[in-house]
Amino acid sequence: MVKTGVSLVVTICALIYPVHLLDNGLAQTPTMGWLHWERFMCNVDCVNDPHNCISEQLYMQMADIMVQEGWKEAGYEYVCIDDCWLAHERDSQDRLQPDPTRFPSGIKKLADYVHSKGLKLGIYQDVGNLTCAGYPGSHGYYDLDAETFADWGVDLLKFDGCNFGTLDILVEGYKNMSRALNSTGRNILYSCEWPLYLWPFHQPNYTDIRQYCNHWRNYGDVYDSWQSVKSIIDWTASHQNLIVPVAGPGGWNDPDMLVIGNFGLSWDQQVSQMAMWVIMAAPLLMSNDLRSIDSKSKMLLQNKHLIAINQDPLGRQGYRIGRVNSFDVWERPLSDGRYAFAVLNRQEIGGPRQFPLLLATLPSWKTCHPECRVTQILPSYQDLGVQNLFSALKLTINPSGTVLFTVTLNEGLAAEQKWNWNMTKKRKTPNSVF
Ligand code: GLA
Repeated sequence: MVKTGVSLVVTICALIYPVHLLDNGLAQTPTMGWLHWERFMCNVDCVNDPHNCISEQLYMQMADIMVQEGWKEAGYEYVCIDDCWLAHERDSQDRLQPDPTRFPSGIKKLADYVHSKGLKLGIYQDVGNLTCAGYPGSHGYYDLDAETFADWGVDLLKFDGCNFGTLDILVEGYKNMSRALNSTGRNILYSCEWPLYLWPFHQPNYTDIRQYCNHWRNYGDVYDSWQSVKSIIDWTASHQNLIVPVAGPGGWNDPDMLVIGNFGLSWDQQVSQMAMWVIMAAPLLMSNDLRSIDSKSKMLLQNKHLIAINQDPLGRQGYRIGRVNSFDVWERPLSDGRYAFAVLNRQEIGGPRQFPLLLATLPSWKTCHPECRVTQILPSYQDLGVQNLFSALKLTINPSGTVLFTVTLNEGLAAEQKWNWNMTKKRKTPNSVF
């Protein structure tokens, strides 16, 4: 699929080592963009609700705003169509076609428009006979549909798994569509739901999935509610030993869309969703109305410190390191030996509670030996100064809220430590404190 330098290196490496990843060179960091489903669902009533129905106008407006309102600059790149864009029949040559009244200009024109804004276009299809909302699926047409998407200039395919028939069709269908996309020669990011549909039958083989998909949904659809967001976080924690090791540049676990800026989450819960998606190295696909989003939610979604953590080049997914007194503590290793931590207050009664965090108790305590710099990023940015192993941070966390902070080896001391270590090596006198 890819003709870039990255792909060349990957190909050369593949000759030397068996490389178990999708070699399209895409999604080196988690995908960022906007996806219509949670907010706009299958609203096809453009007569009574023209402003919110699934039509070319909706994506054009989102693309305009993504450029005008700083979303693109913050890193949000993909404008993605979900289910309900299709006409109910294929055309006379069996090619997919969009609903002619809602997409009168066609998808190619829409892709051109989105590209003219410096953004990318995502589209949706299904491995089975019908999409989840009952539109024609791709089964039996994987090559033709991949070619159609490539001809139109599509940049991402969300491939759903409804109505798959047999498990064989499900698994082979996901693999075949991956191969079909690769052979179009166009870079098309491949977003799968394969493990989600496999779980009711058996534990998915994630090494296999990673070889074919750029990200994959594991768990049910996100709703605009704290209950839903919590259930996704908890599922992820309870399966972390299985799913965290497979995540990394080129392939990510997808906990589904960000619903920040909608109706169902309180401010603290919006902070928590953002914090946890950042820690989980999740694709940041917002499903909200960018035309009317409030400024606080917008600032949260565009927070550059958070986006930098989500997009950290080390590409390691975070994990829960403990649950103490109804606080969940998560850690994510970052590049240059830094760490991000999130402490989520799970007690939904009473007021803000204090969580005393002794840095020496963290698995990554060495970052604070002899000293580290601690920076709180959520719920507000605050330099918490230079700390050491015996520092106890007093974090105050609202019910269902999260405090997110980073820990960095203190730079001056890091240099000094390195020097000391080199001297020690030269003198050949081991001098470890541990
Ligand atoms: C499934 C997917 C959702 C969405 C809908 C569309 O439920 O998991 O994300 O794509 O189908 O019908």
